[in-house]
Amino acid sequence: MNIGILCGGGDCPGLNAVIRGAVKALDRTDIRIFGFFNGYRGLMEGDYTILDRNAVRGILPKGGTILKTTNRDNPFHYPLKRNGEIVFEDVSDELIDKANELGIDCFIVIGGDGTMAITHELAEKGLRVVGVPKTIDNDLSATDRTFGFETAVNTATDAIDKLHTTAESHHRVMVLEVMGRDAGFIALYSGIAGGADVILIPEIAFTIENVLKKIERRKQRGSAFSIVVVAEGAKIDGEKVTTGENEGNIINPEKLGGIGNAVALALAEQGDLETRCTVLGHLQRGGSPAPFDRILATRYGVAAAEAVLRGENDALVCLRNNDIETVPIIDSIKVLKSVDPAGELVAAAKAVNISFGDE
Ligand code: F6P
Repeated sequence: MNIGILCGGGDCPGLNAVIRGAVKALDRTDIRIFGFFNGYRGLMEGDYTILDRNAVRGILPKGGTILKTTNRDNPFHYPLKRNGEIVFEDVSDELIDKANELGIDCFIVIGGDGTMAITHELAEKGLRVVGVPKTIDNDLSATDRTFGFETAVNTATDAIDKLHTTAESHHRVMVLEVMGRDAGFIALYSGIAGGADVILIPEIAFTIENVLKKIERRKQRGSAFSIVVVAEGAKIDGEKVTTGENEGNIINPEKLGGIGNAVALALAEQGDLETRCTVLGHLQRGGSPAPFDRILATRYGVAAAEAVLRGENDALVCLRNNDIETVPIIDSIKVLKSVDPAGELVAAAKAVNISFGDE
């Protein structure tokens, strides 16, 4: 049996732990494991390595991915150089031919919503696939948790802890912009864990006026500083803030970023406050995975290997009520998971006086 493994989309702490888990669970004499570099591009270009126990030794605590990844090379909209110019073409048939030429029986594809949408379409065209849910944003509806989220929350919480001491010394309002394209889970979890005063997320509309009221209330109670955590996908005056286009990415065409500075500027101007903004950016995606993510990623890798051996197809491994299960990939892409504004977590945050800028 020949099995391919590849990563798609942005990287995330725990990718190597998934690869290691799958390879160790599949390392038998009758199985050959192909590790494709740079997502589906590796399959298109025949760029792969053969993976075995030795190839995955020592990678468990390492961030990033030994197979590299990309969020550009969508086989249904694939960049090709023609007469010195980049054009985009559907190369999905060619891709499936390449998989057949190599005799790959099934692929383990580690990715987020974009990669899973592509992978499901490829499965419908005949490629055998098992998916593993990855994203620091934790916004895949089919699973209780994606790996990488816990590590990102740890990084963001550490940043909030550090911002607290400097904010307090200078009587400043510190704004921390964290990732979260469509969902505010990183902002919500790290904001609660770090004791933020305000959390702004895409799921809850906020006004600068309400944020200023919260900061003023704190002042009256003797706290002359405040910490505001804002998810990159939160909307100011009903609009997301972007820094440009994600060239060649038809699934997430806009590059988010800038909401932190926009909020800091609006608070400074409208509230006559001294504000500073920190954009945490890709620090949240880097570094060694937290123990929770190493364990979850290992479980996902092993479960994906077992699903392949059981003959499952177009399926995604997921965590539900702390059990690992499989669901159809389509379930993970139909609806994005988002923070429930009326849910218990938001209510708990409000109960400890965190404002969401909505009242
Ligand atoms: O989807 C995960 C994510 O971290 C988003 O929160 C963010 O918008 C995006 O990736 C950024 O990706 P990149 O800068 O690698 O294109």
